[in-house]
Amino acid sequence: MRISKPFPALSFLSILALYFSSYTIRPTSSSASLQDQFINCLKRNTNFYFPLEKTFYAPAKNVSMFSQVLESTAQNLRFLSKSMPKPGFIFEPVHESHVQASILCSKKLGIHLRVRSGGHDYEGLSYVSRIETPFILIDMSKLREISVDIEDNSAWVQAGATNGELYYRIAEKSKIHGFPAGFCSSLGIGGHITGGAYGLLMRKFGLGADNVLDAKIIDANGKLLDRAGMGEDLFWAIRGGGGASFGIILAWKVNLVPLPKTVTVFTVTKTLEQDVGNKILSKWQVVASKLVEELFIRVLFNLAVNNGNKTVTTSYIGQFLGEKSTLMEVMKKGFPELGLTPEDCTKMSWIESILYNGGFPTGSPIEVLLQAKSPLGKRYFKGKSDFVKEPIPTLGLKGLFKRLLEEDAPFMIWTPYGGMMSKIPESEIPFPHRNGTIFMSYYSTRWTENDKRPTRHINWIRDLYSYMKPYVSAHPRQAYVNYRDLDLGKNTKNVKSNIKQAQVWGPKYFKDNFNRLVSVKSKVDPENFFRHEQSIPPML
Ligand SMILES: Cc1cc2nc3c(=O)[nH]c(=O)nc-3n(C[C@H](O)[C@H](O)[C@H](O)COP(=O)(O)OP(=O)(O)OC[C@H]3O[C@@H](n4cnc5c(N)ncnc54)[C@H](O)[C@@H]3O)c2cc1C
Ligand SMILES: *[C@@H]1O[C@H](CO)[C@@H](O)[C@H](O)[C@H]1NC(C)=O
Ligand SMILES: *[C@@H]1O[C@H](CO)[C@@H](O)[C@H](O)[C@H]1NC(C)=O
Ligand SMILES: *[C@@H]1O[C@H](CO)[C@@H](O)[C@H](O)[C@H]1NC(C)=O
Repeated sequence: MRISKPFPALSFLSILALYFSSYTIRPTSSSASLQDQFINCLKRNTNFYFPLEKTFYAPAKNVSMFSQVLESTAQNLRFLSKSMPKPGFIFEPVHESHVQASILCSKKLGIHLRVRSGGHDYEGLSYVSRIETPFILIDMSKLREISVDIEDNSAWVQAGATNGELYYRIAEKSKIHGFPAGFCSSLGIGGHITGGAYGLLMRKFGLGADNVLDAKIIDANGKLLDRAGMGEDLFWAIRGGGGASFGIILAWKVNLVPLPKTVTVFTVTKTLEQDVGNKILSKWQVVASKLVEELFIRVLFNLAVNNGNKTVTTSYIGQFLGEKSTLMEVMKKGFPELGLTPEDCTKMSWIESILYNGGFPTGSPIEVLLQAKSPLGKRYFKGKSDFVKEPIPTLGLKGLFKRLLEEDAPFMIWTPYGGMMSKIPESEIPFPHRNGTIFMSYYSTRWTENDKRPTRHINWIRDLYSYMKPYVSAHPRQAYVNYRDLDLGKNTKNVKSNIKQAQVWGPKYFKDNFNRLVSVKSKVDPENFFRHEQSIPPML
């Protein structure tokens, strides 16, 4: 597959130097010629062949193919609408050196670049630029190799792989190893880990980002660096400081965690009417973060219709790293209000629990994890997040349920913290939501293409968010960077004002770690090559 171009007399670097010294190319607004210049530049900067028809997609070449590739992994349909700016072209590197060359060439040509791994960004930042056009899209989806080393308890995984593929490749080699990252199996490992990556195993082992051992990254100078090469500051920043601020991640080396051969899972669903006086939900708020760390019980809130009446259901979805009998004892002691019975529980392997929690229909073969497609499907949606430090009183819950009942398709997840999440110091990695957090509250709403007034859903969630203010973290009101929310603030073209603005939204995602992120950014990318609506700004 790899076809090397011969460079008989000159080294790669001297060719590069020659090229850059003898040409100056001015940015142009015509994307067709921009693309040609980019391709020529790429060819001069890599030894590895790229078949144009399988790596370059442009509207001028084939608009239906271009749209297909643009839409392929984009999860939020809001950012694919006609009015959204589109990349001039899409390039899919098939070798790591193509990523390196892409950075050098977009710098040289003065073209703004966006990078996409799994396309799940909440604000579409990986494939839409609303502050700068033209822009191009570097899509990492053809770089998705995974190599699992059970002896070493580790795996190297390229950015374009999904977490579902990673889980599958681990389970293929061992039934007693796993990796603690997200639920939805179509998340791109590249973007996912840059923001933290939480999931089923977080109370026992922390986040995906807490379990990164090494990384390969291309920085703003086009240098390929591993952990030793980038140094501990940059290695710190990329594990939770958010995507596309510091460089392009080529691959992560992750730590595999030990698991029992089987786990126990359950789902218990209550309607509002069944949970009289919010007794169960109130108790969950008190105990969910304090139960043994082998037990993870989250709550999913959905709207439902019960005999013609609207209601809200609360589904308690649990996973226990152990046997059913031990789980029953733990629940009897710690959370009897839920009324969990042995019949509610199912024993399965960890990889089966990934399907169970990932929304796949029961009985799906584990190979569905390789489809790189979410069973949830694509949607028009808006999401937000909060961190809760004290149980929300019944009066607060009342207003919350009232609001949920007013929306068409509201959805909420409460994720318990505690356990390992409390033991890791706030400054260990940029993700700061640690001890003292009892749960994360995630809010979202979705609608369909035919909806005549989509703004009413955005207004609804903004109203809910302001309603929740007294019940959640304050000074700053914290938020999860992987649930990107441009309502919190954003960068503009006016680079000078960005740092001031970012002093407001930055600490919400990172608390005091924000200052260190700015200082790393100022050191590794002072010219702000990697930028987007919520990238970490450098100090000017
Ligand atoms: C349906 C759904 C379910 C989710 N479930 C979870 C969950 O269970 N747990 C959780 O923690 N989060 C979850 N998330 C949030 C998810 O972690 C983030 O959206 C994450 O950023 C997705 O990564 P991606 O590569 O798929 O996205 P992308 O859209 O490709 O990228 C996200 C951001 O990272 C940047 N980026 C992408 N690739 C690279 C790279 N190689 N190097 C540097 N920067 C890069 C992009 O430019 C963008 O800014 C969910 C999101 C959705 C839509
Ligand atoms: C354009 O791409 C589509 C696939 O999306 C393909 O079916 C079609 O043949 C292509 N057209 C040309 C002219 O290459
Ligand atoms: C539906 O709501 C009505 C009015 O509040 C109530 O009288 C009726 O009992 C409810 N039905 C059910 C099944 O809860
Ligand atoms: C977490 O914080 C509480 C008080 O807020 C403290 O008592 C406890 O020791 C802390 N735990 C850890 C592991 O730091």
